Amino acid sequence: MKIHTTAVHAGDRKKPGPAVPTTTPISTATAFTYDKMEELDRIFGREVPGYSYSRYDSPTSAALEELTTALESGYGSLACASGMSALHIALLAALTDRRKSILAADALYGATVSLLMKVLEPMGVAVHFVDVCNLAAVEKAATEHKPGCILMETVSNPLLRVGPIAGLAAIAKAAGAALVVDNTFATPLLVRPLELGANIVAHSVTKYLAGHGDVLGGVAISDEAHLETMRSLSRIIGPVLGPFESYLTMRGMKTFPLRMERQCANACRVASWLASHPGIERVYFPADPAHPDAATIQQQFPQGLYGAIVSFELKGATRDEVFRFMDALKLVVRATSLGDVHTMMLYPVMSSHRELSPKHRERMGIRENLVRLSVGIEAVEDIIADIEQALKRY
Ligand SMILES: Cc1ncc(COP(=O)(O)O)c(C=O)c1O
Repeated sequence: MKIHTTAVHAGDRKKPGPAVPTTTPISTATAFTYDKMEELDRIFGREVPGYSYSRYDSPTSAALEELTTALESGYGSLACASGMSALHIALLAALTDRRKSILAADALYGATVSLLMKVLEPMGVAVHFVDVCNLAAVEKAATEHKPGCILMETVSNPLLRVGPIAGLAAIAKAAGAALVVDNTFATPLLVRPLELGANIVAHSVTKYLAGHGDVLGGVAISDEAHLETMRSLSRIIGPVLGPFESYLTMRGMKTFPLRMERQCANACRVASWLASHPGIERVYFPADPAHPDAATIQQQFPQGLYGAIVSFELKGATRDEVFRFMDALKLVVRATSLGDVHTMMLYPVMSSHRELSPKHRERMGIRENLVRLSVGIEAVEDIIADIEQALKRY
């Protein structure tokens, strides 16, 4: 063969021998070939499982999907390019063959609110917000609006409200709606919503699951009834996660329970220290016995792990003062995102909930003096010392 042909083919398409790699390799091929057209035909026709084209399915993402399915007690999952694309596909799958109406928690991540109001509503989906911590209010809204889907976060962003998943699943079922739960903040270490009756769970794996601040990704894990719809939609729309990101996510996830345990313990210590500090007006943390959802929290998080996000308000602080306080931090990283090994602080008004109108933020209880802390795995004394010195200096 001529050199131009050799350059294209030599060394490629080797069948693996008997050796099995001990961890999942990064498989970058976009297309897969078989000895016989007959085989490829059966795979395209989905009569037998197999890879054909990486928008449909690919080996590294499939390994990650198996892992997330096992951790969340699902029937199957779909690895997506971001948490937002996972939520988008989950909502589309939930609404297929159902009424185009969503009952959404009134406390949600800002971009999720934007997905509802700027993407789905203009396409004819009716969106109604409700306090998912109040079952009577949800039941009333379900009777009134007849939703095709109920959407909530296990622990809401950023005020850490906790709705009763099993009760909400029962309402959804009675209403013929699907319950979609964003479990990013809690992770399957704290709670597995599918075991409590939810239909689809979405994650931003960018956060605790991958955990190292170096990969953007999402996953939607579903029950049997919704998996094929989700996969069919994904084959068309193509919001899939690339192989390198799937690999990084899997690599991170091996230590996620260890990291999460440490982060939860650190967060408890930071939250109680903040609660006793005279410069702090209010601390939001699910372990607080005075938390408005304390009864649900006790039932839903029986292991005594409450997540690793602590939100708090600086006493009487203006936006400029919050900026000065955050500028004074030396260890805690001023950045959006959460769930990484390093501790991070974010100003919701400026970032996660920036797109919402001031009125909408006010309704959600997100005030100008609120900051959100994602507690990392560092020595907790160092985290507290950094916040303490910044509180003295702003
Ligand atoms: C609760 C929650 N859900 C979803 C997302 C979106 O995830 P991603 O940024 O990976 O698209 C975020 C991002 O911050 C989040 O906090």
